[in-house]
Amino acid sequence: MIGTDTVDPFAERITAGLTAPGWVLVPDFLDAADTRAIGELLRQRWESGAMRPAGVGRGRTFQVRPEIRSDQVLWVDNEAPPAVLTGFLERMEALRTHLNRTLFLGLQEFECHLTAYPRGAFYGRHLDRFADEARRQVSVVFYLNPDWREQEGGALRIETPAGPVSVLPEAGTLVLFRSGDFWHEVRRARRLRLSVTGWFLTRPVIP
Ligand code: OGA
Ligand code: MN
Repeated sequence: MIGTDTVDPFAERITAGLTAPGWVLVPDFLDAADTRAIGELLRQRWESGAMRPAGVGRGRTFQVRPEIRSDQVLWVDNEAPPAVLTGFLERMEALRTHLNRTLFLGLQEFECHLTAYPRGAFYGRHLDRFADEARRQVSVVFYLNPDWREQEGGALRIETPAGPVSVLPEAGTLVLFRSGDFWHEVRRARRLRLSVTGWFLTRPVIP
């Protein structure tokens, strides 16, 4: 059990990476059993048809645009999260306070959804922060796919000033990046690709 005052074992590394170059990769973020349990939750939600086509935009601007993205999602209710996600969410909470202390990001909350890219799905080049999502500061993806091979596609491709970086969605890998700074895409997956995708948000702007 990790309380909010406990520093995450990877906190220093994550702070350093988000400082420069602005993105960071953490393999084996959770132990194999916890990762497997979350993977089983995702598979169950996917198989039971609980996920919905993801859209672009929010509220009245929400649109399903399969030519832009063809993943399916299920938002996590922070008030009543699935039990197997509690440990992961506590780690995110500890990380949130750590990032506020070290990087002064003013992060107020963490939102996330369960994500499935069925075979053939992709998400075209985009930024995670746009008019509707201005509060997003740090993007987080936690992957749940054991023994993912390069030939199976589905890489996250991040455009960095030093050149493109390709991240395979291997079970246990966590990737974080500054939401406003990196164009990225998810290449077409040739196998069901499962993940938890989240964002640390600043507080809403009060007009
Ligand atoms: C997203 C996204 C990356 C990934 O959902 O906005 O870019 O690797 N996901 O799943
Ligand atoms: Mn994205």
